This record gives sequence, structure tokens and C-alpha cells, in this order.
Amino acid sequence: MESLKGKIVFITGASSGIGKSCAYAFAKEGANVIISARRVEIVKEVAKDIIEKFGVKAHAFKLDVRNREEILKAVSNLPEEWKAIDVLVNNAGLALGLNKFHEDDPTGWDEMIDTNVKGVLFVANAILPGMIERKFGHIINIGSIAGREAYPKGAVYCATKHAVDAITRSLRMDVIDKNILVSTVDSGLVETNFSNIRLGDPEKAKNVYKGLTPLTGDDVADAVVFCASRPAHVNIAEITLLAARQASATISYRE
Ligand SMILES: NC(=O)c1ccc[n+]([C@@H]2O[C@H](COP(=O)([O-])OP(=O)(O)OC[C@H]3O[C@@H](n4cnc5c(N)ncnc54)[C@H](OP(=O)(O)O)[C@@H]3O)[C@@H](O)[C@H]2O)c1
Repeated sequence: MESLKGKIVFITGASSGIGKSCAYAFAKEGANVIISARRVEIVKEVAKDIIEKFGVKAHAFKLDVRNREEILKAVSNLPEEWKAIDVLVNNAGLALGLNKFHEDDPTGWDEMIDTNVKGVLFVANAILPGMIERKFGHIINIGSIAGREAYPKGAVYCATKHAVDAITRSLRMDVIDKNILVSTVDSGLVETNFSNIRLGDPEKAKNVYKGLTPLTGDDVADAVVFCASRPAHVNIAEITLLAARQASATISYRE
């Protein structure tokens, strides 16, 4: 394992679930973390806790990844000691609704596309120039099994995660001569706040994971840290991570 000690890791959507787990997992390895989300009071609390627990530095601020101006401003206003970002974890994302396409409410479509696709593009666009200048960097996108397979009632969410997969692959080709790595970590069922937000009902959300043991945010963070800590000559292009009883996006064994 290559040391992550002293590296600067920028994580979007760090107020909950996978993003929050990534913040702790990188800090545990000695990395300094820049953590952002819309719920700024939560990321500030997370930063405080990380500093106390791991003795690393943590910098927290509000960021809505749909807002390109806000991202550019936040990145260019980073204090000098935080500017040299080594690793970007493009994690902020969500699904809204689980309905047949013709029965779905298009109100949520913009938010999914703006967050999951444009958010990934805008944040990478703001951070890449610095990585190119420093001739070093690693972008790790949080994709999904929904980016590898389409499933019923998920047209728009699956489309956004397929887009993340395409962005990951194209970007890897574009920066191949810049000493910048690009990876994607694609998970199946992870029990976070994701299903609460998608279904808007805690009971229904619980049922998503019924009869099996889902992945946790920490399981996914393990894979993200693995990607970021390989020897310099190794790039993990993609990791697909499923719960032990999940065979595909649509087939799970539930007891
Ligand atoms: N859970 C799963 O089963 C699963 C499986 C595969 C992939 N994923 C992917 O994993 C990523 C994280 O999801 P999660 O499961 O950890 O869900 P979660 O617990 O709901 O966390 C989502 C995070 O994204 C942030 N976020 C949402 N919209 C944002 C915006 N416009 N700007 C900035 N941050 C925003 C949220 O923060 P604020 O609300 O504070 O902004 C929150 O921190 C997503 O990209 C999701 O698609 C999840």
C-alpha cells in the first residue's frame, strides 16, 4: 500500500453515507481532507470530529455541485495550504423516485442529471487544471451498478450513472499523458440515506435491504482508499462491489 499520509483529498457529498465514510477512511490513513456538501453544519461537525480522532487537517465548506460558479469560487478560494489536491472523490449524488418511466414525475429528473452528471463534470473541471499543472492527481468517481446495468423503474438514475462511466473512461484517455489516474467505484446495495431520499419513506427504504446484509458506506470507502493507495505504476480502472447476496442490479437472494 502506498502511503496516503499528508495527501490532500477533496470529497463531495461528505455529509452522509459513502462520502462521509470516505472522509473518515482517508483521515484514518493520515490524509488531510476537504469535505463539502450542501448541509454545511454536518460537514463542519465531521471535520471537527476527524481532526480530534485522527490528528489530521480537515477543511469543510458548503458546496452544491450543481452550481458551477459556486464550485469555481470554492476551489479558487481554497487557502494556500489546501490548493494542491491529490485525490478527488466525486461522490455527491442521488436518485429520486423508483417508477416506470411513463408514470414517473419528471420534476426530479433535472436534479438527478444536474447532480450526478453535471456535478461530476463541474467539480472535475475545476480541480483538474491544478492536477495537470502539478503533474499528479487521481479522480475517483462514485458510479453504481446502475452505471453497468439498466434496471426497470430507474431510467433516469441509470442514465446518469452510465454517463459517469462514460465520463470516467473518456477522461482517463484524455489525461493519460498527465500522470493523472481516473477510477470508478461502482456499488450495488449500500445502506445509507440513499433509499430514504429516493423513496421519501423510511419504511419503504428499509424494505430495499430486507432479507440480506447490504454493503455499508465503510465497505465502499475501503474500495475507494484501495484505489487511491496503489503503487504509482498501478491504476484501478474500476471496482464493482456487491453485497454478498446480490448477483446483479435486479437479482438478489433474500432470506
Ligand atoms: N446507496 C447506494 O445503494 C448506492 C449504490 C451505488 C452508488 N451510490 C452512489 O453513492 C453516492 C453517495 O450516495 P450515498 O449512498 O452515500 O447516499 P446519501 O447517504 O444520501 O449521501 C448523499 C450525499 O450526496 C450529497 N449531495 C446530494 N446532492 C448534492 C448536491 N447537489 N451538492 C452537493 N452534495 C450533494 C448529500 O449531501 P447534502 O444533502 O448535505 O448536500 C450527501 O452527503 C451517490 O453518487 C450515489 O449515487 C449509492
